[in-house]
Amino acid sequence: MRSVILGVGAHLPERVVTNAELSQRVDTSDEWIVERTGIRQRHIAAEDELTSHLAIAASRKALEAAGREAKDIDLIIVATTTPDLTFPATAARVQAALGVHQGAAFDVQAVCSGFVFALATADNFLMRGQAKAALVIGAETFSRLLDWEDRGTCVLFGDGAGAVVLEAQPDETERGVISTFIRTDGRMHDLLYVDGGPSQTNSVGKVRMVGNAVFRQAVEHISGAMLEACARAGVTIDTVDWFVPHQANQRILDGVARKLGIPAEKVVITVGSHGNTSAASVPLALDAAVRDGRIKKGQLVLIEALGGGLTWGAALFRM
Ligand code: ACO
Repeated sequence: MRSVILGVGAHLPERVVTNAELSQRVDTSDEWIVERTGIRQRHIAAEDELTSHLAIAASRKALEAAGREAKDIDLIIVATTTPDLTFPATAARVQAALGVHQGAAFDVQAVCSGFVFALATADNFLMRGQAKAALVIGAETFSRLLDWEDRGTCVLFGDGAGAVVLEAQPDETERGVISTFIRTDGRMHDLLYVDGGPSQTNSVGKVRMVGNAVFRQAVEHISGAMLEACARAGVTIDTVDWFVPHQANQRILDGVARKLGIPAEKVVITVGSHGNTSAASVPLALDAAVRDGRIKKGQLVLIEALGGGLTWGAALFRM
């Protein structure tokens, strides 16, 4: 059996905040942000727009693209750092709103690597026969965690959601997830974290980051994860048709591509239009390239991410 990606969907909040608008709020400029990150704008959720709302909208589109209905889904995993509430899981709300009345629904927390971790988790459930079809969602209202006085972080992030429908199918078509690799190293906890939480501070907290240290770790570990996912699948990196990276920063993407000798035309890049949407960024980019016809059925796709924890990972699949 293989976990086949049947459909992809995405959703972004309506409100767009440009670099120019941000530069009226903090001491920064469009030029600085574009040069250091490639980000031109981000989408910011309205006050009453929750992570679950974004997740539900993306999921509906993924279900439609997959030609599947609520009754077909028996596993929902939401990767998020910004749940609606501390508990229950945002996935429980998504499940109820979609009308899924069977199986399990839970959240996964691996910050920006969340979608890769959730995909790897769902793949294991499907391969073990413990679920038949899964919705794997990355959804964030990351703007809620931003310190709008800290120009080193607030310019980087945005809100959004993306989702895929995965279904266990016989391994005949060669489509589906071929390998996954996930990794955490808690020793780097303090490079990127939120300074609040229910147990430690009884609050939500704001993002804190040692930007240049994260940058160095990102290029190193993302490259390593991509090579490991390919090695586990017994393929070389030059046979991959499309690279769909976590959209953190154009310079990280360039650094990884240079290190591994990946041509720019094989890399899907959407960071300019929505910034770093944490767990949502990989499925947002995947959705863009599937919908505009770049990624086609049968092609080999490699996704990757790195985030707080530190966590990182990669997954290789045939669309
Ligand atoms: N506008 C203008 N100046 C700024 C801004 C800003 N928005 N932010 C920082 N600066 C200033 C700093 O204050 C500093 O000024 P100083 O020299 O007077 O002290 C100067 O720019 C250089 O600061 P650095 O932090 O060294 O800048 P750097 O070149 O490292 O770029 C950045 C900062 C863009 C955050 C970079 O470190 C980076 O991309 N890191 C990766 C972090 C990341 O993407 N994290 C996302 C989560 S992890 C992930 O998703 C992979």
